[in-house]
Amino acid sequence: MQLRVVTDQPWDVKADVLVVPILGDPVFEGPLGELDRRTGGALSALVTFRELSPKRYSTALVASGELPATWVLAIAAGDPGSIDREVVARIGAAAERRLGGRPARSLAFWLTPLAEADALDGDANVVAELVARGVVEGSYDPKTIYKDDVESAPPVLDEMIIVAPGGDVTALGRAGERGNVVGEGSNLARTLSNRAANDVSPAVLADEASALAERHGLWIDVIEPDRATELGMGMFMAVGRGSDNPPRMIVMRSGGEGERDALDRHLAIIGKGVCFDSGGISIKPSDRMEEMKMDKTGACTVIAAIATVARLAPGTPLLALAPAVENMPGPHSTRPGDVVTALNGKTVDITNTDAEGRLILGDAMTYAERLGATHLVDVATLTGAVARALGNLVTGAFGTPQGWYDDVAAAGARAGERYWQLPLIDDYVAEMDSWYADLQNAGSAEGSLVKSGLFLREFATRPWVHLDIAGTAYFRKATAWAPRGATGASHATLVELALAGARAG
Ligand code: BES
Ligand code: MN
Ligand code: ZN
Repeated sequence: MQLRVVTDQPWDVKADVLVVPILGDPVFEGPLGELDRRTGGALSALVTFRELSPKRYSTALVASGELPATWVLAIAAGDPGSIDREVVARIGAAAERRLGGRPARSLAFWLTPLAEADALDGDANVVAELVARGVVEGSYDPKTIYKDDVESAPPVLDEMIIVAPGGDVTALGRAGERGNVVGEGSNLARTLSNRAANDVSPAVLADEASALAERHGLWIDVIEPDRATELGMGMFMAVGRGSDNPPRMIVMRSGGEGERDALDRHLAIIGKGVCFDSGGISIKPSDRMEEMKMDKTGACTVIAAIATVARLAPGTPLLALAPAVENMPGPHSTRPGDVVTALNGKTVDITNTDAEGRLILGDAMTYAERLGATHLVDVATLTGAVARALGNLVTGAFGTPQGWYDDVAAAGARAGERYWQLPLIDDYVAEMDSWYADLQNAGSAEGSLVKSGLFLREFATRPWVHLDIAGTAYFRKATAWAPRGATGASHATLVELALAGARAG
């Protein structure tokens, strides 16, 4: 898709579809009035006849009258006071999705009304980035992974035109391109995540990571079972040993070994890569077990994020680790009650083989620190509890010290992604005491979400944040702005966080 910026008025732009955001209860004067006049009053009629509901993300498609664009897509942006970055990206996605099945090739998007929303502060560049990212994300359809010619799919665009009268073409173009690249990265994460477990084994995920490393000039090391065992990754191997598809510890790096970024960090992003989580010997009920092919989403997210960072700011110091395993029952599986030694030397009593994410992440975190990481962020579909507590639109997050949590949260806010901080209650650590080992991997159900964070904290000696995307990683039903399946959650946040340390230029 080509991206083009025009600083003309929207009524001068030629395209298959011109997207016009309608904020709140609109007054058809000024530029919106002019657009309405040139459509022969069709836009205002949509509103007065209530063909366009005022509900956010509602849409209506009308013929364009005298406008050079062929169609006008009006999209309700809702109350201007509550339009934030997340909403702007979703409006881009919802507009593109509304065109599913239509033979549209060029899409023009009039930014001005969104830039005028309170939270966007007139910043057309930010709106350009988020709208471009949204349109790219909105073009995503998981049906196209295993099927060609999906008729209902959102259109494959040749051109997206950012319409920002009076804007700075160079700055808008750069911002739009950044949004395009971030959107493509998010879609890459989604495809890896949506792919089936009979397609993406740990070895295949490692091959995908290697191909990306090659394409984007990243260093990569794929640690196979023998070396993982020799290194002492006892928790990682305890999970991986139960499957015929052997585990892989995937380690990728941009920039030099141990190199600090502009913020004096050697940042490591670590993603849970459980290619299928049956629960192991502590087997899960069969209801919705098919979703557990997406238990590798954290890994897919960090692999895509380091590739995106390499595209936007090559050489930015960054580590990505993706412990990839299949959690399966079988004669070689870890049994409840097995005691293993973690890479950091702690002994762990595995009381529940379904609490496997924390085991593979713990060893990956220790290994990241051995490689010189000064700051850690892990992203994982870790607990059902986080989805029960927060639903599918807010990611639960833990972190320490608070200053590092705040840095990650700020990157999330810039990326237009929602997080909610959960507490690390020290007193609960005692509830993970084991009779035989330093700790056990699962405690009682009470406070299990907090305990999942506390368990991971045992494997961090550096500033660390944990993002539990078990609720946000995939949708069970489509929304106006996203299809079912993987959402790409947290990809943009990790990219923002890493790019904050990119060197100028
Ligand atoms: N992968 C699951 C968490 C999950 C559940 C993700 C539902 C997405 C949707 C994780 O490995 C798991 O099984 N967690 C257990 C932990 C428990 C055994 C302490 C859980 O949440 O029940
Ligand atoms: Mn599990
Ligand atoms: Zn899991």
